[in-house]
Amino acid sequence: MATVLDSIQRAAAGKAERLIDPHGRAIADLRISVTDRCNYKCVYCRTGNEGAAYAELPIEDYLRMARVFVGLGIEKIRLTGGEPLLRRGLTDLLRQLSRLRTLDGSAPDLALTTNGHLLEEMAESLRDAGLSRITVSMDAVDAERFARITRVPGSYERVLKGVRAAKRAGLAPVKVNCVLLRGFNEDQIVPFARFSREEGVIVRFIEFMPLGEDRLWTPESVVPLREIEEALRSFRPIVRMAPNAASETAVRYTFDDGVGEIGIIAPVTQAFCGHCSRVRLTSDGKIRTCLFSQSDHDLYGVMQRGGSDEEMVRFIRRTIEQKEARHHIGEPGFLKPSRSMVHIGG
Ligand code: 5AD
Repeated sequence: MATVLDSIQRAAAGKAERLIDPHGRAIADLRISVTDRCNYKCVYCRTGNEGAAYAELPIEDYLRMARVFVGLGIEKIRLTGGEPLLRRGLTDLLRQLSRLRTLDGSAPDLALTTNGHLLEEMAESLRDAGLSRITVSMDAVDAERFARITRVPGSYERVLKGVRAAKRAGLAPVKVNCVLLRGFNEDQIVPFARFSREEGVIVRFIEFMPLGEDRLWTPESVVPLREIEEALRSFRPIVRMAPNAASETAVRYTFDDGVGEIGIIAPVTQAFCGHCSRVRLTSDGKIRTCLFSQSDHDLYGVMQRGGSDEEMVRFIRRTIEQKEARHHIGEPGFLKPSRSMVHIGG
């Protein structure tokens, strides 16, 4: 009896402890950048300048921050970078994260976003370490174009092998992210639709956001959702699919024959801030409450000063109280975020 009561009390306390931001949104999704190094120099992301200092924390420190967050109701953790597969100790981190328990008592859902360059050799060990899902970034399905975007020769062949290895390893469903940039790869929409059907992967087109180190973004550089839909329709009739979850960012489609799945993520023309459930940790241990925040919140600083878990909890709560209602991309007076994508992670 005591144990039943205990668990009811724990559950009630757990409910009360969950992170809710001032706009009433439950924060259940944590993204951790485990390095800001990257082996690609994608034109829309990085300047390509070599030799910049990078910032990484010991694996145990990411683990401690994740554990404290999970105690506050985080249910899903996505590891990002930079390129997370470059990070030594990544599989250890995954193994330890998979042993955490959410407030419901289940293991957290563990996902990872990678450029896929090192995926062929790592897919099985990632799965064995407890990874449940993987997203691979691919901005073209053409070897020459791909290498022009990543600025690394031979990258397409490697990433394709990586995607196939992830499927074989059972990291299903494999998702492929394609950032569309006008004049760059909008002609890849139909080839990617074929790719989804032939390879059995979910392809997601993402509207370009102003997050790169270079100032490449203009409103005209965005290929909007409507235009992506049009291009897909020119290939085959599309059918909208029901959302999986309220906080889902992608509008999902299949084709008239049910083969293939395409998602469109439209942060610019159909912002989904209203149901944002996310919080991010940069590779140097700072909390970002929005991709477009003007400042970040130094959780690692609290740890460095010898802060207890309780102090970390208080710091996180204060930070979440400042979560922005929405971003202001495309509005007059929009200010670029204080950090670029390679530091924040996706
Ligand atoms: N706009 C939209 N998506 C981007 N990504 C990187 N930079 C941008 C941007 N400026 C994507 C990457 C990766 C994910 C983490 O975010 O391609 O798939």
